[in-house]
Amino acid sequence: MSIQDNFRLAMRRYVYSVSILSNKDSDGNSNAITVSSVTSISMDPPSLLVCINKNSRIHNSLTVGSKFCINLLNKDQEDLSNICSDDDKYDQRFNDKNWNLDDVPFLANAQSNIFCSIENVTSFHTHSIIVGLVEDSKYKNEIKTLTYVDGEYS
Ligand SMILES: Cc1cc2nc3c(=O)[nH]c(=O)nc-3n(C[C@H](O)[C@H](O)[C@H](O)COP(=O)(O)O)c2cc1C
Repeated sequence: MSIQDNFRLAMRRYVYSVSILSNKDSDGNSNAITVSSVTSISMDPPSLLVCINKNSRIHNSLTVGSKFCINLLNKDQEDLSNICSDDDKYDQRFNDKNWNLDDVPFLANAQSNIFCSIENVTSFHTHSIIVGLVEDSKYKNEIKTLTYVDGEYS
C-alpha cells in the first residue's frame, strides 16, 4: 500500500469536529465551506488555524486582514455540513434561517462561533494554511458537537 493510502487510513481513525467556515468576499457575497481542519494555536494571542483547499470556491477570498467565522456544528446540523461540502448544493448554502448575514456571516444556533481576522496565509502545495486572530467567541452551554470519524458522522 502507498504512503498516501496508509496515511489516509491512519487519519480516518481520528475523530474530527465539524465546522463551517463562513465569510463575505470583497464584493459582499457570502461564502461557506465545511471544514474539519480547525486547530487552536495559542491563547496569547488567541489564534487558530484552518487548512483550505486551493480549489475551493472560498479560497481566494481568504486574504490577510479579511474576516471569517468558524461555526462549530451540533449533532442536529449534519444536513448543513453536507450542503456546505457538496458542489451540487452550492445554491442552498444560506437557505437555513439561522444564518445571520448582517456582517460576517454566522450560524446563530451553532455549538460555538469564533470570529477571526486573518493574520497570515501560508501556501502548502494543494492547500493554504489560514491563521486567524480571534476577535470574539460565542458558545452554547449544552455540548453536543457534530463529529466525523472513518467517513461517517457521529
Ligand atoms: C467532514 C468534512 C470536513 C472537511 N474539511 C475540509 C477542510 O478542512 N478543508 C477543506 O479545504 N475542505 C474540507 N472539506 C471539503 C469541502 O467542504 C468541500 O470540498 C467543499 O465542497 C468545497 O467547497 P466548494 O464546493 O464551495 O468549492 C471537508 C468536507 C467534509 C465532509
